Amino acid sequence: MYKTVEDTLFIGKNLVFVPECPSTNDLAISLLRSPTSTEGTVVITNRQTSGRGQRGNQWLTEPGQNLTFSVLLKPHWLPVKNQFFLTTVVSLALHDLLRDFGVNEARVKWPNDLVVGEKKIGGILIENQVQGDAVTTSVVGIGFNVNQLQFAVSTATSLSLTTGMSHSLEGVLQSLLGKIEARYLQLRNGKHAALLDDYLAVMHRYQQVARYLADGAIFEGTIIGVDEWGKLKVQTSGSTRLFGLKEIQYV
Ligand code: BTN
Repeated sequence: MYKTVEDTLFIGKNLVFVPECPSTNDLAISLLRSPTSTEGTVVITNRQTSGRGQRGNQWLTEPGQNLTFSVLLKPHWLPVKNQFFLTTVVSLALHDLLRDFGVNEARVKWPNDLVVGEKKIGGILIENQVQGDAVTTSVVGIGFNVNQLQFAVSTATSLSLTTGMSHSLEGVLQSLLGKIEARYLQLRNGKHAALLDDYLAVMHRYQQVARYLADGAIFEGTIIGVDEWGKLKVQTSGSTRLFGLKEIQYV
């Protein structure tokens, strides 16, 4: 159903489409050892039967309405301690895409949810393979809600609900893959500071006082950044606290 991408150097040049699969991340991981799995290989499906999300959650989406795909990257030049930059790359690419569609209120909710207002429009599941000090391969799974109009939860939205029109999945994919490549090349060229600046500039609740839940207690704090490992830095009345993925919830 999907065509290989023309306007990129390597992302989407090898495109594997399957009408249905349990999870494109699982399929991409199983393809890792194949010699045809070159960097930039995209695995895409119309229907995932066991789509996986962050924190062990499921990723449920209406078949044929949205984008569910994985990109295989080989960032062997990326030190393990900098692996959070892959998150900044993909989050920013999705944000760049939404801005092109005129969705100026889109934000990146740390670490890698794309939200419009308080509603989630896309999520990212990055699974890295590490050897020694470097990330050898990275499977970047993206779920992006494009044309779905109804959701089981009130906290989800789609591009179509946001823009008031339906969109070609093929067109959105082509554009998104181009943006992922551009941001990835920025990382490969060592532009860490620029990526971090851009990430903070579009971060949900950045420098705003808000409520969070951690260690069983609700507290007020202000997100003031992320550290080099990607931990969230929150300023509270008494101190600056650092949180990993499962250690804090937005209230
Ligand atoms: C999240 O926000 O929890 C991350 C969602 C990631 C979903 C995508 S859909 C394509 C790829 N395959 C999966 O099983 N998960 C990711």
